[in-house]
Amino acid sequence: MGESILEAQGCHCSQMESGDLERICAIADRHVGSRGALIAMLESIQQEQGYLPEGDLRLLSQVTGIALVDIYGVATFYRSFSLKPRGKHLICVCLGTACHVRGGAAVVEELSRVLDIPVGETTLDGEFTLETANCLGACALGPIVVVDGQYFSKVKVTDAKDIVAQFRDKADVIEPATEACTAA
Ligand code: FES
Repeated sequence: MGESILEAQGCHCSQMESGDLERICAIADRHVGSRGALIAMLESIQQEQGYLPEGDLRLLSQVTGIALVDIYGVATFYRSFSLKPRGKHLICVCLGTACHVRGGAAVVEELSRVLDIPVGETTLDGEFTLETANCLGACALGPIVVVDGQYFSKVKVTDAKDIVAQFRDKADVIEPATEACTAA
């Protein structure tokens, strides 16, 4: 991936409009010209919206002149970005080699069963999103599960239900999760 596409080419919004376009122009203005501008813009959109809506990406392309395909290239390259709304709680299970051999896959399966969703999806009530990552750097403590930034180590299949229940109780006080599964 060339570095040039990570930098905005300039904000073309000479006439500010209201609503979404104005919002995206404000984001573009904040970062345009800086190194890694596109990543910073996408981070801002995700911070505001909780994910990267297609409409916002199209507007970003329009106001910066960056090809939509390049925007999607970056948005899909980094796992910290999401093209779909995520739940209030993000559950991320490590499936790196060490965690896998210690039973990580079975933990994912059990979480998937408890939540009634496949990996990558969000529960119908919008509470939980289940994702996986490759090695989170704590191999000796695997299998590792991270929920809203809180680490659980040496997780067993029988722990899955308790972990979900713990965070379901906090459903009304936690802000929407925007990151946790950051391993590419
Ligand atoms: S493989 Fe899971 S933390 Fe390294």
